[in-house]
Amino acid sequence: MAIQSRLGRRRLLQIGIGAAIAGCSSIRQRSRQGFGSHSLSPSALATAGFNSLAQVASRKGFFYGAASDYAMLSSDAQFAARYVENCRILVPENGLKWRALRPSPTEFDFTKTDWLFDFAVKYSLQMRGHTLVWHLSLPRWFSETVNSRNAERHLVHHIESVAGRYAGKVHSWDVVNEAIEVPDGRPDGLRKSPWLEFLGEEYIDLSFRVAAQADPEALRVYNDYGLQYDTSSHAAKRHAALRLLERLQAKGTPIQAFGIQSHLRASETRFNAEKLRQFLRDIASMGLKILITELDVSDQGLPADIEQRDRLVADAYREYLDVVLDEPAVIAVLTWGLSDRYTWLSEFKPREDGLPVRPLPLDENLERKPAWWAIAQAFDNAPLR
Ligand code: G3I
Repeated sequence: MAIQSRLGRRRLLQIGIGAAIAGCSSIRQRSRQGFGSHSLSPSALATAGFNSLAQVASRKGFFYGAASDYAMLSSDAQFAARYVENCRILVPENGLKWRALRPSPTEFDFTKTDWLFDFAVKYSLQMRGHTLVWHLSLPRWFSETVNSRNAERHLVHHIESVAGRYAGKVHSWDVVNEAIEVPDGRPDGLRKSPWLEFLGEEYIDLSFRVAAQADPEALRVYNDYGLQYDTSSHAAKRHAALRLLERLQAKGTPIQAFGIQSHLRASETRFNAEKLRQFLRDIASMGLKILITELDVSDQGLPADIEQRDRLVADAYREYLDVVLDEPAVIAVLTWGLSDRYTWLSEFKPREDGLPVRPLPLDENLERKPAWWAIAQAFDNAPLR
């Protein structure tokens, strides 16, 4: 008890996180030796001591990481240790959104994101920024304050302040997120967001230009979802996305990459590998890099049996990654969370039977699931970048 009182819970957490991670870092060091460029079988992966998805990914030239945030990494020592063991790039799930950073029209609160950037430096993680411009997660004052007269000033000030603060420390920014919504009535497929309403389509070009000025080093990404399946809505969205990219490039917008969020459903059978390959080729043909930015697999609609569910989720990861990792323009894969202990799907896409969802590589006890092995195997089978 004396130790607890003297050091306080926070200090113990820091020690706990440091000690837990130190153990994992040594595992990372051990497996850094690598094993040549030949593909390893699952059992070879296991016996080779590969405990890290980032390690398996980096052997083929990919970044692997996951969304997480201050709340989890600062308070859950065991999770933080597994995070550092498995990930090489960190994207704050919510920490860099307007609602988290902007308590008022004139204030910024970088306390938690500064902690995350320090955490990334301490554990040799790259940082991804998500997201500078979005129609959701806007602060409550936004709708009462921002209008067509001042929207450009607010947009520019936000991007300059946030991207400028972390300039040189960010691998890539989701500069604009989810600007397309089909069907939503507009022929060009653009989402009727406040930004479009106040500034027209030019808000997208403006956002990328300001981001390029604020942080020239970060890769500038357009990020969106609903693009991967052989359905009419996903096909329409792929078409609208390609046309948007063409319009942006025609006007010289400094966009460098496309982020495909990749929120998958294990129960979805409408998947056409060749159509997805063609979409990736079309993006790459524009000279853009591709990031898989928010990969997870919902187990809604799957049987309750955990062994069966985990296998179907793993199959969905494998089927998807076997296609996307074949595209040379793909440089990074991030899952939207690392462990079932922390997933947005629990709240946003719960199972009808009320059972805890199981979408991610680690289970709620931070143990590797079939999904972990499927992702590792996909990286190991992928062509070298
Ligand atoms: O932090 C507050 C907490 O103080 C409060 O008590 C609680 C009350 O509900 O809300 C908490 O904020 C929630 C936040 O997540 C942090 O947990 C927000 O209500 C909730 O809306 C927010 O949801 C996030 C959602 O984006 C909206 O921003 C999800 O965690 C996050 O996973 C999800 O991520 C998005 C990507 O940014 C874009 N692509 C789709 C993806 C999934 O929707």
